[in-house]
Amino acid sequence: MQVQWYPGHMTKARRAMQEDIKLVDLVIELLDARAPLSSRNPDIDELGRQKARLIILNKADLADARANKAWEIYFEDKGCTVVQVDARRRADMKPIQAAILSACREKIERDRRRGIKNRPVRAMVVGIPNVGKSTFINSYAGRACAKTGNRPGVTRGNQWIRLSKDVELLDTPGILWPKFEDQEVGIRLAMLGSIKDDILNTDELSMRLLDCLSARYPEALKERYQLPEEAYGKGPAEILAEVARLRNCLLKGSELDYGKAARMVIEDFRCGRLGRITLELPD
Ligand code: G4P
Repeated sequence: MQVQWYPGHMTKARRAMQEDIKLVDLVIELLDARAPLSSRNPDIDELGRQKARLIILNKADLADARANKAWEIYFEDKGCTVVQVDARRRADMKPIQAAILSACREKIERDRRRGIKNRPVRAMVVGIPNVGKSTFINSYAGRACAKTGNRPGVTRGNQWIRLSKDVELLDTPGILWPKFEDQEVGIRLAMLGSIKDDILNTDELSMRLLDCLSARYPEALKERYQLPEEAYGKGPAEILAEVARLRNCLLKGSELDYGKAARMVIEDFRCGRLGRITLELPD
C-alpha cells in the first residue's frame, strides 16, 4: 500500500511556528503514546534548537501501560523531561507545572544569576494534527485561563495564558506536519487517524492493524469479537472475514461487507474499545 501525503499547506504553518518558537523558552511536544516515534516530526529538533524541551506522551490512556513506561525511559535517556497524560483529564495536568520548571531549570538558574527575578517561563505546545494539542491546552489552562492580552512582537493576535506566577503558555499550538519517509510510519499514522482516511484503502489498513493485533494483542481481539481460537493461525484477511461474520456486517444477498468490518476494526482501535494498545516499542 502506498501512503502519500503532500504537506503543501504546512509550509505556512511551519513559518508561523518558526516565528512563535522565537518567543518561548520551552517547547512542549505532544506525542501519541500509541506510536511516539511515528507521531513525532524530528524537524522539531532543528526548529526548537536551544529551547528547553518537555515531552508529553498523550493519549496514554489508550496505550499499553508497560509500553508507556518503556517510552518514558527511552526519552528520559535522551535527556528529555517526560510526562504521560490523558489530556482530557484535568487531574493529569497536576505534574505538568513541576515538569515545566524541571525542564527549564537551566534557564531559571541563568536568570537568577543575572539578577532577573519573577520572569515567567514562556512555553508553547506543538504536535501533529489530532495528537491532542487543543485538548491539552484547554485542560491545562482550564478556568485559570487568564489571558494576558496581546504583546508587542506577538504575531497573529496570539495571546499568552498565564498559568501560574511561573508559567505562561501561548494559546495557539504549533502544528507539525506528519513526516514519513518510511512507509511503516505512514501506516501507523493512518491507524491513529492522523492522516485523513480518504487517501487510504481502509480494507488494507484494517488488515495491517489486524496483523499487528493478532501478533501482539491476540487477547484484545478475542475479547472484543469473540473470535474462535482457530482464527488466529490464519491471515488478516480471514480474521477480517471472521469479524464481518461475527458482527453481521452483511451486504444485500448476505455477502460479507468487508468495508464495514474494516471501518469498525479501525474505529474500535482508535477509540480504545480494543483495550490499551501500542503500535511501536523502543528498540
Ligand atoms: P489537535 O488539537 O492536536 O488537532 O487535537 P485535539 O485536541 O482536537 O484532539 C483530537 C481528538 O483526540 C479529540 O477527539 C480529543 O478528545 C481526543 N484526545 C485528546 N487527548 C486525548 C487523550 O489523552 N486521550 C484520549 N482518549 N483522547 C484524547 P475527537 O473525537 O476528535 O473530538 P471529541 O469528540 O473528543 O470532541
